[in-house]
Amino acid sequence: MESSLHIGILGIGAIGSVFASLLQEQKSWKLHLFNRSSKKDIHVRFPDQTYHIQQETKKSLQEMKSLDWLFICLKEYHYEQAKSLIQSLIGEKTRVVLIRNGLQLSKSIEGLCPQHRILETIIDCPTEKISDQAYAAFQYPILYLPEQEGSKVFQQLMPPLISVRTIEDFDIQSWKKCIESSCLGLLMIYVDGDCGAIRQGNFIPLYKSLIQEAMLIAAAENIVLEASFVEQLEEKFHAYPDEKQSSMYRDYRSNSEIEWKAKSGLIQSMADQHGIALPTHQMIFNTLNLEV
Ligand SMILES: NC(=O)c1ccc[n+]([C@@H]2O[C@H](COP(=O)([O-])OP(=O)(O)OC[C@H]3O[C@@H](n4cnc5c(N)ncnc54)[C@H](OP(=O)(O)O)[C@@H]3O)[C@@H](O)[C@H]2O)c1
Repeated sequence: MESSLHIGILGIGAIGSVFASLLQEQKSWKLHLFNRSSKKDIHVRFPDQTYHIQQETKKSLQEMKSLDWLFICLKEYHYEQAKSLIQSLIGEKTRVVLIRNGLQLSKSIEGLCPQHRILETIIDCPTEKISDQAYAAFQYPILYLPEQEGSKVFQQLMPPLISVRTIEDFDIQSWKKCIESSCLGLLMIYVDGDCGAIRQGNFIPLYKSLIQEAMLIAAAENIVLEASFVEQLEEKFHAYPDEKQSSMYRDYRSNSEIEWKAKSGLIQSMADQHGIALPTHQMIFNTLNLEV
């Protein structure tokens, strides 16, 4: 029987491989994997099972006319270079699911797809690269979506191991996630250490100051977060094990490019637009000689 749905995944790195490994199990659609470099034989290890992706990645749609769904799993700084490929993958009916960190994700494909066919997401799925062909995912993915056209259809489409939750306050939750990951990431780079190092060096007040500054920018963008958000993040921090590292810090340690424009750089550029000073952020950028 011919598959009725054509699903594409662009960016077969950590997150793209997680989705490919779980979506390939579905027989009711045809999966297409797209990546810059050619990849095949990727293994994805979940806590209870390892999946093997045998399918080889492609660099274009080739014989295919159109995709029903396109999942984009690129890093923020990959989008510019990938623009023409993204454009070629979006057909007249293609719905696009953006899976990346940051805020206002649709801006990264502005003009390439009508807004009503774009689904922004927040993803919870810490995944590490073990080698060029192997990843370790510490949990099955949880995707949060805004309540909008297409969200319910997408939710019904996903297999049980991909948990999809629609939330009313998507913008607020996106800001909360962005503030936590950018402030904790920036602090870890400053301290050059994990949660244990932050605890030992008593850097919690600095963490709180970064959060308070980021909340000022959220407020300027009409996102009002409860005053207790600082304490909520402090409490969350205390529950983390000493060895926990943020993704920003892991990228820093491995000399990989950091997604500044999705994290601290995004907050700083919004601060510049609003004319709001962020002295703690600035002190860290200056100390580390960081250009964000
Ligand atoms: N990893 C995590 O734990 C995690 C968790 C939550 C959210 N996120 C977010 O999810 C997003 C994706 O992250 P990731 O960790 O999956 O990134 P990643 O491992 O770096 O994967 C990105 C993939 O995109 C490919 N790519 C880059 N430019 C391309 C282009 N022009 N055309 C085609 N393919 C291209 C890369 O190919 P090459 O191999 O050829 O470079 C790579 O395979 C990021 O925003 C990240 O912050 C990640």
